[in-house]
Amino acid sequence: MKSISILGSTGSIGTQSLDVARWRNYDVVALAAGNNLKLLEEQIHEFKPQFVSCQDALLTTLQDLLKGNEHSQVLTTNELAEVEVDTVIAAIPGIAGLEPTIRALKKGRHVALANKEAMVVAGPLVWEVARANNATLTPLDSEHSALFQCLVGEPKEAIDKLILTASGGPFRTEPADLSNIKPEQALKHPNWSMGAKVTIDSATLFNKGLEVLEAHFLFEFPLDNIEVVVHPQSLIHGLVRFTDGSIKAQIGPHDMRYPIQYGIEYPDRPNIPLEPLPILGEWTFFEPDLKRFPSLAMAYEAGRIAGTAPTALNAADEIAVAAFLDGKIPFTAIPEILESVLEQLPTQALTWDNITTINHKARQHAEQLCLNY
Ligand SMILES: NC(=O)c1ccc[n+]([C@@H]2O[C@H](COP(=O)([O-])OP(=O)(O)OC[C@H]3O[C@@H](n4cnc5c(N)ncnc54)[C@H](OP(=O)(O)O)[C@@H]3O)[C@@H](O)[C@H]2O)c1
Repeated sequence: MKSISILGSTGSIGTQSLDVARWRNYDVVALAAGNNLKLLEEQIHEFKPQFVSCQDALLTTLQDLLKGNEHSQVLTTNELAEVEVDTVIAAIPGIAGLEPTIRALKKGRHVALANKEAMVVAGPLVWEVARANNATLTPLDSEHSALFQCLVGEPKEAIDKLILTASGGPFRTEPADLSNIKPEQALKHPNWSMGAKVTIDSATLFNKGLEVLEAHFLFEFPLDNIEVVVHPQSLIHGLVRFTDGSIKAQIGPHDMRYPIQYGIEYPDRPNIPLEPLPILGEWTFFEPDLKRFPSLAMAYEAGRIAGTAPTALNAADEIAVAAFLDGKIPFTAIPEILESVLEQLPTQALTWDNITTINHKARQHAEQLCLNY
């Protein structure tokens, strides 16, 4: 029986990981939520984890809720990330997920990584920590899981291109004018059911930009050899073209439980109790429209600048998306804020201290821009 811990257990990836835990009968040793203590309580009741956590401000409330429960001990999220398990599922979104992910890697754990932002802001440093501690990483993002699966057993020098597919989001072709888009429209993703932040990022295509950067750092592969193709059906998740001209693609239903199970079980492929994908229907492909969705081009730009530029862009996006969801800025302001932060914040070398400083400065800058709308 495999043992797991889940950072972000009450979210979209977290709850789907628990589906996998149910059918694979994993020992769920530790669960960390954010604010949703009601759902966490239900999860504690069902899975009886030894360790539980939530946002720091709610730790005392959680302790009070668990009075009389001898089995589950309350820890901080960073402490919980270090608990001994076979696999840590890192699914706290944004830069908030970076430190617990690093804590788990420092303990030499296997990390199944959903938190793409850790790779985006600190990829080379994350690999340094992982290698120094004999820790291992598998991607949970469906596109990166697809590329990972296509790359198994292939020589590095034979890889020509990594190709990520994008659904194109809810506004791929219409409306012509994106300025009046409301949060509830942007939260309706055509194919995937995900957390709010990643869903808005999918609507601006910034999520694909983050994924390009994630692939660049995760596979240590040149940025300019990573392409994006729009595939509205979201059935082909990633493709690898080799130097001999062959292309390998990974195909599967748009259901995150497939890449989650693969990321935990790799290299095994146990049965999955879900309906197999019918190989019928239309599969289409388009070039992304970078005029309509400039955030994708900005992610490439940040990757080319390198250093702390991806940190600045990621921080600006976290602030801009939160402001859009709060009704404070229009949808079309999101890429404008990204552009301004990228242009105006001087890039520094990639160090842990510089990531902290630039993350803070970019947030302040983006917050100021949001106030001016
Ligand atoms: N959902 C997908 O299909 C998908 C696909 C690929 C990659 N990803 C990536 O996976 C990560 C998680 O995405 P998601 O869609 O699962 O997000 P989500 O549904 O918003 O869930 C986020 C989880 O993290 C917790 N959390 C949020 N902020 C926290 C903080 N500061 N400290 C501690 N816990 C915190 C939340 O707790 P509460 O809800 O209790 O507040 C929740 O359990 C993201 O990096 C995303 O880009 C997601």
